[in-house]
Amino acid sequence: MASESRSASCRSDERLPPSLWGASRIMAIDNKQPPRLNVAVTRALPPPVIELIGKRHEVWVNPNDRVLTPDELQQAAAGADVLLVTAFDRLDAAAIERLPPALRIVATYSVGIEHIDLTAAARRGVAVLSTPDVLSDSVAEMAILLMLGAARRAHEGIDLLYRDGWAGWTPTQLVGIEVTGSRIGILGMGRIGRTVARRARGFDMTVHYHNRRRLEPALEEGARYHDTVEGLLPVSDVLVLAAPSTPQTRGLLNGASLALMPAGAIVVNIARGDLVDDDALIAALRSGRIAAAGLDVFANEPRLHEGYLGLPNVFLQPHQGSSTLTARLKMAGILLDGIDAVLAGEPAVNRLV
Ligand code: DGY
Repeated sequence: MASESRSASCRSDERLPPSLWGASRIMAIDNKQPPRLNVAVTRALPPPVIELIGKRHEVWVNPNDRVLTPDELQQAAAGADVLLVTAFDRLDAAAIERLPPALRIVATYSVGIEHIDLTAAARRGVAVLSTPDVLSDSVAEMAILLMLGAARRAHEGIDLLYRDGWAGWTPTQLVGIEVTGSRIGILGMGRIGRTVARRARGFDMTVHYHNRRRLEPALEEGARYHDTVEGLLPVSDVLVLAAPSTPQTRGLLNGASLALMPAGAIVVNIARGDLVDDDALIAALRSGRIAAAGLDVFANEPRLHEGYLGLPNVFLQPHQGSSTLTARLKMAGILLDGIDAVLAGEPAVNRLV
């Protein structure tokens, strides 16, 4: 298959590297030249993002835009200095052990890091970079979209217009929930959670939160801390899940915890699907105990629990939280800065290992 050149420094080919790479340019740093590294990218990225990376480095992009198999991932890494992955590439201990010795950096194009075994990366001596903070605004906007979409029955409104033949305005049509002035409970008050809190204040919502650690007053901005999840749930008219997926958070929204929420509450998930016990949430949505849910993330994506698909009171998005060009460019920018820092032996805000 002939190779297709996307730009002077971007290659996409049906074959996987290393046949496409020249020698690693990592040595160029010794000449005080900015080094042009070999960067293998496991999924297609928006063209301006590839262009941005291509200005600095040689780029190979997986031309098939699907998750690589474990063997393909190793092939992609062969000859590369940097492996740029997404949250859907599994880099468990076994995968990290198999990485080619010359690979210096794993850069994940995500804020979530549950797919990478950081202990194994540290043992193997490979640096790991992620994309904190730069996507907080985009993801927080998604949280607000989901909250309002769920509260104002956007799914049913869209169906009414596109599918069900709208017969015109009536006072009883799709009566929803006004969230203004109600209580928002944010589970996970990191950068994304705090950005959601700031947006929610625009709706005069009272902000409550639970976090492993209480924040400094300057970061709390008046939000009320609850030192347990059980303390947060009863005051959450809208619950926003914004915590990472960890052994402690997986399945935390289950039958018992949902029962602690106010009747008629709304659940929003912008974090990871595995924080939720789907059967329990679907049962609560069916009974009306939970009025509505706005979900952007699911366990076992893209095969979401089919129970959600039959429910009118869910507003679903296909994992789109960070999907704005602004965020996508900044995500590449912070990874490029992190790569420079690793090569220069300097600290990087987004270096995990
Ligand atoms: C993230 O950055 O973690 C997003 O969820 C995409 O993986």
